Amino acid sequence: MAIERTLAMIKPDAVEKNAIGGIIKMMEDSGLKVVVAKMRRLTPKQAEGFYGVHRERPFFSDLCGFMTSGPIMALVLEGEDAIATYRGLMGPTDSAKAPKDTIRGVYGSSIERNAVHGSDATDTAAFEISYHFSEAELNGLLA
Ligand code: CMP
Repeated sequence: MAIERTLAMIKPDAVEKNAIGGIIKMMEDSGLKVVVAKMRRLTPKQAEGFYGVHRERPFFSDLCGFMTSGPIMALVLEGEDAIATYRGLMGPTDSAKAPKDTIRGVYGSSIERNAVHGSDATDTAAFEISYHFSEAELNGLLA
C-alpha cells in the first residue's frame, strides 16, 4: 500500500450542525492525517467547476446550489491507501444507506445532504487538491 493524499470537503449541512470536530475526529481515528485545511464559501462558478464531471446530471443545479448555501471546510488527508480508506469511512453517497459507523451514517441525512465529499481516484484527488489549495499552501507545510 502506498501513502496517498485525498481531498475531503465537510459540506454546508455538516458545518451548519456543528459537526466539523466530530467528523475530523472520525478521520483521525481511522488513521488519516490532516495535512492542511481551510474554511471557505464556494462561489457558484467554483462549485460548478469542482463538480464539472456531473454537469449533465439532473441533480447538478441542486448540488451546486447546496454546496454554495454555506461555508465548507476543505481538507487534504494523508495516509496509507488514503483514497480508498477515506471512501470507506465516508460510506455510500446516499446517507440513508450508510452504516452507522461511517461519517455519512452518523452526520448525513440524504443523498444530497451527505455531510462530506471525498476524491474517488488518484487523478481526481490531484485535480481536487489543486482546486482548493495552492502549491504554496501545500508546500509551505512540508518545510
Ligand atoms: P459527492 O461525493 O460530493 O459527489 C457528487 C455529489 O452529488 C454527491 O456527493 C451527492 O451529494 C450528489 N449526488 C449524487 N447523486 C445524487 C442524486 N441522485 N441526487 C442528488 N444529489 C446527488
